[in-house]
Amino acid sequence: MNEPLRAEPASDLTYFAFAASATTPASLATSAAATAASDLPEVLAGRYLIERLLGVGGMGAVYRARDLLREQFGDPEPYIAVKTLSDEFTEYPDAHALLYTEFALTARLSHRHVVRLFGFDVDALSQRAFITLELLKGPTLDQLLSERPEGLTWDELREIAVPLIEALAYSHSRGVIHGDIKPSNVILAEDGLRLFDYGLGQPLEGVLKNLPRLSRNRFKAWTTRYAAPELLDGGEPSAASDMYALGCLLYEMASGRHPFRRLSAKQAKALALDKELQRPPHLAHGWLTLQAALAFDADQRTASLTQLLNIFRRPAPSRLQRWFGRAHG
Ligand SMILES: Nc1ncnc2c1ncn2[C@@H]1O[C@H](COP(=O)(O)OP(=O)(O)O)[C@@H](O)[C@H]1O
Ligand SMILES: [Mg+2]
Repeated sequence: MNEPLRAEPASDLTYFAFAASATTPASLATSAAATAASDLPEVLAGRYLIERLLGVGGMGAVYRARDLLREQFGDPEPYIAVKTLSDEFTEYPDAHALLYTEFALTARLSHRHVVRLFGFDVDALSQRAFITLELLKGPTLDQLLSERPEGLTWDELREIAVPLIEALAYSHSRGVIHGDIKPSNVILAEDGLRLFDYGLGQPLEGVLKNLPRLSRNRFKAWTTRYAAPELLDGGEPSAASDMYALGCLLYEMASGRHPFRRLSAKQAKALALDKELQRPPHLAHGWLTLQAALAFDADQRTASLTQLLNIFRRPAPSRLQRWFGRAHG
């Protein structure tokens, strides 16, 4: 490739993990780019022409690419996203298996609010494994939240919460635990919300039985402020740990603030911050359920996705209802 790959400017529709603002120091952008796939060939598997870096997360680097085969057949939209592991992860002996597991989990899912997967491949020459996905255009939820420090209105909140909970409930119904629900793994795409990045996901017992069960703990890739306490103690991701992360996200959207001052669940538990949790103003009816979703103890996390869906499917509460909610805590 003639030019080194760069993240797109922050003004572009897609949000980039390390190019969050125009003020990102050049050194930071450079070092983050260095953790992307530095020796990535220009064309993968003789078919996917890498155009530019879209974003890097805890484990992967995602690029915009052109599918030359589609282009050859005159497809006017041959653009796709290619996800490969960042350099530090390709060092692991089971790196391919790690990416394949993400592929296999996502491949079980076909839902309008879950990212659409195309394939898994290994570039023979470079021995790089990669996943091909639909190219999503739009900001991540992370970006929206950083622009809305006061939180979202009820209508905005339900516009995001409903498809997000639907996507998660569908994933669970297919035996797939997401494992890493957080704002940077949700894109508000032009044609609707998408949940993506099942890289820390886990199949439920009995699902995808022949896949190697990789312990994600050694990668320490979790964003601790959305990780349930049992994950931080070395536990496996579960429907309950997804619920905790979702609870944090819903609270953050509703109030503009992380429920526990952006602390990890273990720190928050030690400080008993659950006792001080303040109800976001327009969450009168859902408050008890949201509190249950945020319980530190997995056994106490009794909220269900169906309950949450019912809460967020309601129309905006009237002023009077809000007053009642306040009166009844
Ligand atoms: N299909 C996609 N289309 C456009 N951008 C994407 C797509 N998938 C991921 N990205 C961008 O790349 C970033 C990292 O992707 P992600 O799958 O979350 O990697 P990681 O597993 O390292 O967290 C995302 O936060 C997002 O900005
Ligand atoms: Mg991610």
